[in-house]
Amino acid sequence: MTRQMRAAVYDEFGAADRISVRTVKVPEVQEGEVLVRIRAAAVNPVDSAVREGYLNSFIPVSFPAIPGWDMAGVIEERGYSARRFEVGDEVYGYARRPIVRYGTFAEYIVLPESYLALKPKTLSFEESAGIPLTGLTAFQSLVDIGRLQPGQSVLILGASGGIGTMGIQIAREKGATIIGVASSRNHAFMKELGADHCISYEDTDITAEIRLLFPDGVDLIFDAASGETLKSSLGALKEGGRLVSILNRGEDLPEGLDFHYLFVEPNSTELTALAELADEGRLKVPVSATFSLENTTEAMRLIETRHTQGKIVVVPG
Ligand SMILES: NC(=O)c1ccc[n+]([C@@H]2O[C@H](COP(=O)([O-])OP(=O)(O)OC[C@H]3O[C@@H](n4cnc5c(N)ncnc54)[C@H](OP(=O)(O)O)[C@@H]3O)[C@@H](O)[C@H]2O)c1
Repeated sequence: MTRQMRAAVYDEFGAADRISVRTVKVPEVQEGEVLVRIRAAAVNPVDSAVREGYLNSFIPVSFPAIPGWDMAGVIEERGYSARRFEVGDEVYGYARRPIVRYGTFAEYIVLPESYLALKPKTLSFEESAGIPLTGLTAFQSLVDIGRLQPGQSVLILGASGGIGTMGIQIAREKGATIIGVASSRNHAFMKELGADHCISYEDTDITAEIRLLFPDGVDLIFDAASGETLKSSLGALKEGGRLVSILNRGEDLPEGLDFHYLFVEPNSTELTALAELADEGRLKVPVSATFSLENTTEAMRLIETRHTQGKIVVVPG
């Protein structure tokens, strides 16, 4: 039986107004895959970058394309040999496939079951949808690559958005001292999440501010902002310290830095660990705005301001 769904779709690269919401066919469920009814999909800056065509040489797009890589929902059907979940299980996942075609701003998605984990029981679908992409990015940057240890110091650039809110909480779990960089209107918010110190990026010499607090510098910089903010922070790194960036691929950086670029990978084991943390009350997802599927264009325009707090979410209804 061919199943239909409502989905946000674009047919060519361009601005958010290229998106229309229409009825499209749901793909058939293949071996090892599951059909998930999407209950909430979080919005990420990368959704706009993909739609603009900026990542096409790296992650090709096949039109018509449905944007969105983050979701929480309910298993509705299982393909042959997909036995990890039961129909009715509440799951979440980072749904990036090798080709962008079927994303999460839709009523349904078909995914390999290996992309999914059981969602946190104590969080809503909207909150859960806010974890996969940002939670995995922060975890892989701080823990897998950054090797953050208890008692170390970490400077997080861009600490009040999706990545920053996860980064602060994961670093706090590791027992690190956290300095968050974002605009001053977000400092109280960042402290509530666990930042020990907050610095603004506007008209600020970040290195000088850090050296007042940590004369030897910080052990790790987690860069989710780049540009002038990163330049202003580089001198804050301790001798032998590490820089992990999710934006800068090494352009214009001084020689000899212990530098790593990271592009987040799906990882269901890490998603399960993040769900456990959330269910222990140690990982919160501040959702600052919710949009209907019909208003996906507005949701994407909002993320493009680069100044949303926590996560924004699309709910298919
Ligand atoms: N490589 C990867 O795997 C990967 C994964 C996820 C995200 N990313 C990228 O990482 C970036 C952040 O993602 P996100 O989801 O956290 O975005 P977001 O939710 O839009 O948050 C943006 C953050 O950046 C801050 N900010 C804006 N301008 C800044 C500046 N000049 N200096 C320092 N901070 C600034 C904002 O704070 P204020 O509002 O207080 O200004 C906010 O904290 C995006 O560019 C995204 O594409 C890369």
